Amino acid sequence: MTARTALITGITGQDGSYLAELLVAKGYTVHGIVRRASTFTTGRIEHLYQDPHDADTRLFLHYGDLTDASRVAGLLERVQPDEVYNLAAQSHVRVSFDEPLFTADTTALGTTRLLEGIRTTGLPCRFYQASSSEMFGASPPPQHERTEFHPRSPYGVAKVYAYWITRNYREAYGLYAVNGILFNHESPRRGPTFVTRKVAMAAARIKAGLQDTLYLGNLEARRDWGYAAEYVDAMWRMLQQDEPDDYVVATGTSYSVQDFVEHCFAHVGLDWRDHVRFDERYLRPAEVDDLVGDASKAARVLGWQPTVLTPELAGLMTDAELRQLLGSDGAAVPAVPAPAHTLAPR
Ligand code: NAP
Ligand code: GDD
Repeated sequence: MTARTALITGITGQDGSYLAELLVAKGYTVHGIVRRASTFTTGRIEHLYQDPHDADTRLFLHYGDLTDASRVAGLLERVQPDEVYNLAAQSHVRVSFDEPLFTADTTALGTTRLLEGIRTTGLPCRFYQASSSEMFGASPPPQHERTEFHPRSPYGVAKVYAYWITRNYREAYGLYAVNGILFNHESPRRGPTFVTRKVAMAAARIKAGLQDTLYLGNLEARRDWGYAAEYVDAMWRMLQQDEPDDYVVATGTSYSVQDFVEHCFAHVGLDWRDHVRFDERYLRPAEVDDLVGDASKAARVLGWQPTVLTPELAGLMTDAELRQLLGSDGAAVPAVPAPAHTLAPR
């Protein structure tokens, strides 16, 4: 098979970085869209970077933004991808209450701009949409592919729109377009304002004597937390099937925010009750109480199964923070286990 070309939006994000690693390891040429910022935002993919002048370079970055339809269409035309992974989004649920219009523009309409670019250029590419368990919102668990959507945030509403426009382009124009409905997935590369990373960082910093208190909101919400490095493999598998379809990706387990806090603090020998305080600023105007995914279809059709469950995830994230803080003195802290597909850092 000739080498395939992939275009990833959101390549600078948590999932984009793991997906880029996976695809480069599989021999793809990978193109990523990066937003211009006043500082570099490519820290998560630094280890994959090669000088674009090198003959064997397989990772290329392009400035672009999902709010700019002409740029999106121009990049599709130029890159001629076989597979497009749409991971870009304003992805923070709490922030979506503060910035509902920007969230809709990027997270909802950005998806249409990509799909419309594919349709009008006539590219025969396959399209992956990063759909979310946040779409299920208030629908009780376990949630699966046929569970009713009841989003509870502007982000969730935008993702429901993006889900349906993806299905619509599949049904109306015959595009190979799929929705991966992924439940929460985390890693040491998670953005520091998501609860798991915030807690892992605080546990390590408190252990190291750099901080004493961690302020959190709702400790009772329950989530199905998996390991991001494993979830990108499910994305790739969805685009390798004969027919396009939609899949839930999850561990099928449920833990509260408090459980996650307990795991991280106990991992470094601390009692969380000595350090965690409530701050109402971290509450949301509407909350998603309980997400637990039924990923049996992904297991059956894609052959995908998670191996890292929430307690191990909490440990590996806390260890990663400790190692970061301790520098060379952190050699004794266990290393994050690399998923089979990842490349050795360059
Ligand atoms: P993330 O770390 O927040 O990354 C989001 C990416 O989107 C970043 O690269 C960001 O660029 C980019 N982006 C934001 N607005 C953009 C715009 N207007 N134009 C172009 N790029 C833009 O998110 P993630 O955790 O990797 O998640 C990846 C995708 O899966 C997102 O769509 C998210 O909503 C969805 N999802 C995530 C989870 C999860 O638990 N992680 C679960 C279900 C679905 P900057 O680096 O410049 O900010
Ligand atoms: N972020 C944050 N910060 N959340 C907190 C805090 C805090 O200080 N305290 C409690 N929480 C609670 C939130 O109220 C929520 O119930 C839970 O922790 C998880 O919050 P996040 O880590 O921000 O993730 P999320 O579940 O809202 O959204 C993530 O998962 C979605 C999939 O269900 C994001 O990655 C979304 O992009 C993704 O689609």
